[in-house]
Amino acid sequence: MDKPWGGRFSEETDSFVEEFTESVSFDRELALQDIALSRAHARSLKKAGVMSKEELEKVLKSLDEIEREIKEGKFNWRRDLEDVHMNIERRLTELAGPAGAKIHTARSRNDQIATDERLYLREKILSLLEELGGLRRTLVKRAEESLGLITPSYTHLQRAQPIRLAHYFLAFREMFLKDTDRLVDFLRRLDELPLGSGAVAGVDFAIDRFTVARELGFSRISRNSLQATSDRDFILEALFISAQIGLHLSRLAEDLILWSTEEFGFVSLPDSLCTGSSIMPQKKNPDLLELVRGKTGRLIGNLVSLMVVLKGLPTAYNRDLQEDKEPLFDSLRTLDGSLKALRKILDGLEFNEERLKASAGGFTLMTDLANYLVRKGLPFRKAHEIAGKVTAYLIEKGKKPEDLSLQELRTFSDLFDKEALELMSPERSADMKISFGGTAREEVIRRLDVAKREEGIS
Ligand code: ARG
Repeated sequence: MDKPWGGRFSEETDSFVEEFTESVSFDRELALQDIALSRAHARSLKKAGVMSKEELEKVLKSLDEIEREIKEGKFNWRRDLEDVHMNIERRLTELAGPAGAKIHTARSRNDQIATDERLYLREKILSLLEELGGLRRTLVKRAEESLGLITPSYTHLQRAQPIRLAHYFLAFREMFLKDTDRLVDFLRRLDELPLGSGAVAGVDFAIDRFTVARELGFSRISRNSLQATSDRDFILEALFISAQIGLHLSRLAEDLILWSTEEFGFVSLPDSLCTGSSIMPQKKNPDLLELVRGKTGRLIGNLVSLMVVLKGLPTAYNRDLQEDKEPLFDSLRTLDGSLKALRKILDGLEFNEERLKASAGGFTLMTDLANYLVRKGLPFRKAHEIAGKVTAYLIEKGKKPEDLSLQELRTFSDLFDKEALELMSPERSADMKISFGGTAREEVIRRLDVAKREEGIS
């Protein structure tokens, strides 16, 4: 029996069991973190008097060798050794002899995996933050370029009120800024070392957890060994934030899919980022955007799947927890791709100014007509009713608000005078929205300036 835990067993492990329980095929992604952890742990074993100076040196040298083998793709990963931890430990013992066999003193795979995952996530979150930053800056750039363009906004997917296209892009920049904030906040909670918690109860030897933490770049250590080895709240949080970012990306993608249809025609996507149909020659499909939308389903699924795994687990480590890794790796990889995809699309997006202009006016101006009457002293509810009647009249006559004459208007209220006709412009409508965070040109310019300053764009 060649297993690190083989002592109490008298039969070989069934090979199906090996196949079913192994995790090394995917948790080898944590190999470098596991090695960094072992370096810090070996040093602390030396300080605790478990390893001699010579043994520590041997172990550190062997860990360097193992790292090299892994990076060069020469490491012999063995399924029968189950996971990344026992693969590395076994190789360490091959290289360093009895010194290597001491590495698992005062540690368990349970505190090891919780630590590896935190180390791994920390790096991944930092690169996610970079990607998100790039996307936010692209949105700011597109906002600046589209300051002069007006588009209808939609509520219930019905034309609502005219807004500046820049306002739209800044809205998404704001969403991704909140996601950024979530990630930064998450890093603070992630910053806690589980190692030294052992399998469940803590460890027997006088290891200095604070020094290990410092060496691995953690500013705090976990305060309860049971919590530290069994809780996966931090993986869930990573999955939630990924799903949340995915939701924002998906809605942006959906808008752009709609806007690039012949029916809307507000934007066009570059050929290089679209795909064709194998049967319909005229097609130019927004597959990239559709997949961003579609992959968001996976991001949500990964979150739900781990929540279900955790629900009802007896407290402390259970092997079920091994199921945390594949969703995590998948979500981080998927999200990275989706962020890159949307950035490319945004960069290549072209606006159809004519179409935007032609769509922005019309009935989207009816709130302005009501507000005009309010300024003349009418209570809003009354003004709303009159503007509603004007709307019904126009629909019946097959006319647009821009076609209204003063004479017609005055049949609804004698408060209307010729300034009311000047209201019938989408630009003007947008520029009336002067509230903080509204879509008036001056206000959008102010928000754009703030955004540029925050993003370090000059
Ligand atoms: N591969 C295991 C996991 O990912 C590592 C911890 C195993 N611990 C144990 N007691 N079997 O969860």
